Amino acid sequence: MAGHVLVTGGTGYIGSHTVVLLVEAGYRVTIVDSLCNSSAGALSRIAAITGKPDAVTFVQLDLRDRAGVTALFAATPFDGVIHFAALKAVGESRAKPLLYYDNNLGGTLVLLQAMADAGCKTLVFSSSCTVYGDGVPPLSEDSPTGLTTNAYASSKLITEQMLADVCRCDPTWRVCILRYFNPVGAHPSGLIGEDPRGVPNCLMPYVLQVLVGRLEKLTVFGKDYATRDGTAIRDYIHVVDVARGHLDALAWMRKQLEAAKAAGGATGLLEYFNFGTGTGSTVLELVAALEKASGKKVPMVIGPARAGDVPAAYANIEKVRRASAAPLTHSGELTHTHTTVFCRRAACWAGARSTPSTTARGTHGTGRAKTRAGTRCR
Ligand code: NAD
Ligand code: UFG
Repeated sequence: MAGHVLVTGGTGYIGSHTVVLLVEAGYRVTIVDSLCNSSAGALSRIAAITGKPDAVTFVQLDLRDRAGVTALFAATPFDGVIHFAALKAVGESRAKPLLYYDNNLGGTLVLLQAMADAGCKTLVFSSSCTVYGDGVPPLSEDSPTGLTTNAYASSKLITEQMLADVCRCDPTWRVCILRYFNPVGAHPSGLIGEDPRGVPNCLMPYVLQVLVGRLEKLTVFGKDYATRDGTAIRDYIHVVDVARGHLDALAWMRKQLEAAKAAGGATGLLEYFNFGTGTGSTVLELVAALEKASGKKVPMVIGPARAGDVPAAYANIEKVRRASAAPLTHSGELTHTHTTVFCRRAACWAGARSTPSTTARGTHGTGRAKTRAGTRCR
């Protein structure tokens, strides 16, 4: 047995993919999720993929519920925590900053206090490349952070600072901060993927809904950026690679701990890793890849740039590569060829969801879309 991991936000998009890999790797998993942006239906799909329904325990709980979170840690000696749970809609966070500070910072504060009290001090935290603000790409882990333009990004930056303070005062904490660039795609089983409630904010799920006819057309936000085709550049990384990176981070921390113990040195650590591919794609390039993968045209119009968007964000992944002996390899493995593959998988997943064959629900959402369980996307 590889250990017992608490996964906050484990029924969500990245969380559900990570739970699948944890279970497949032999971990015991407890998911804590309020279901504010996901559905309990993810649990049966995780079980269907892994074939191990008993490997996952689900606790429906808001992390801000201090008594509930404390009781959870009192009942179970977790070996580590992967902390995904957060609200993540940039636009909403501009309109409702206090909601984002309350949920993302309040929940994290309760979690960290409960972890400290229980002596569970191993944490992998989901951060975002938005902490780099309008930094100049390629962005490396030591690129300047700050100058965030919305409460979502600020909540990630403040949490990073909170974790640095915790590690500074108690050097027995082991913390990996993972700064994701743009996770996209779906599990090859076709059973889990990204299915946001309402109209998607993000490019990939939006285009997929256009492809399956649920939305009429894509509005490209800005074509006057100083980029190769005038549209903004992002670093799209497959969600399964992001998920796998969490297992690598746990393994890497364990290895560091063993090495430190053997050397009689300090056992604590605080490390930052970019999870991107190192390659940027423009909006038009991503759309073209999806068109090629699906064999369909995406109707689109050019609109004004979206407030707060940066022209280009892509990762320098040298640090992840260097840690690869550790190994944190997978987020560096994607190429443009791979883009076509993951777009095909994601398009297939969206197509399966809109096929009225069974009543299975998407990972998130309202259940209005139906899934043909077992459709494999290759
Ligand atoms: P998601 O919304 O699909 O998953 C987040 C999960 O957390 C949801 O299931 C939600 O119900 C749960 N949750 C939220 N607040 C909670 C609370 N207070 N208590 C308990 N559960 C709560 O989002 P995701 O795309 O899977 O993102 C996971 C993490 O990765 C988030 O922290 C997000 O900020 C971060 N991230 C995501 C992206 C991205 O593009 N998807 C990029 C960078 C960082
Ligand atoms: N875009 C469009 N039309 C749309 C949606 C997006 O042209 O309908 C463009 C955006 O302007 C941007 C690019 O597509 O240039 C990507 O936009 P996304 O909303 O998909 O991604 P962002 O980079 O803006 O933000 C995402 C998540 C954040 C996360 C960040 C970094 O929304 O939560 O990636 O990981 F923090």
